Amino acid sequence: MAHDERNQGPVEPAAGEVEGVDEVEVLSALARLDLEMAWAYDASAEAVEHGGELRSRLLQFRDEHLWHVEELNQLILARGGTLLQARGGPDGHLLGPLTWLVRPFGLVAQLLSLLLNEQMSNWNHDLALELDWADGDVVEVLERHRAEEQHHMAWLSEQEEALTASEPPALA
Ligand SMILES: [Fe+2]
Repeated sequence: MAHDERNQGPVEPAAGEVEGVDEVEVLSALARLDLEMAWAYDASAEAVEHGGELRSRLLQFRDEHLWHVEELNQLILARGGTLLQARGGPDGHLLGPLTWLVRPFGLVAQLLSLLLNEQMSNWNHDLALELDWADGDVVEVLERHRAEEQHHMAWLSEQEEALTASEPPALA
């Protein structure tokens, strides 16, 4: 009887060894995720009506994500890839419209939605930095972006916890 390969599970690459990964594809995927998150922050900031500092912080995070797109585009361009247009507006995107969907459920729900986006981004940066990049410039950019993503996640988490602690539970 033939051995059932389904029981073997995925093959784990050795540390520092990742084969079959196209650098431009990885950088383009990260840039696309940054752009999606920028529009999610934009939609969320627009929904915050009286949150002066909160709104300005959300817009700051949006701009940082757009700057990530610009920096990743430079790396993509240097590798002969196609630039991602960073200023195209929310049409055709996913996370911005999803943020609008969350809007009727209140600020905590919005912050949780953004937090989930940030968790996805942090995880993807962790994975990208596991790749065996030949160019140290890529590693420097990705590490800097990951540090900012960690900051975004920590800030959102603090805000969500503070709001949750100050509000009565939605379900008694
Ligand atoms: Fe972020």
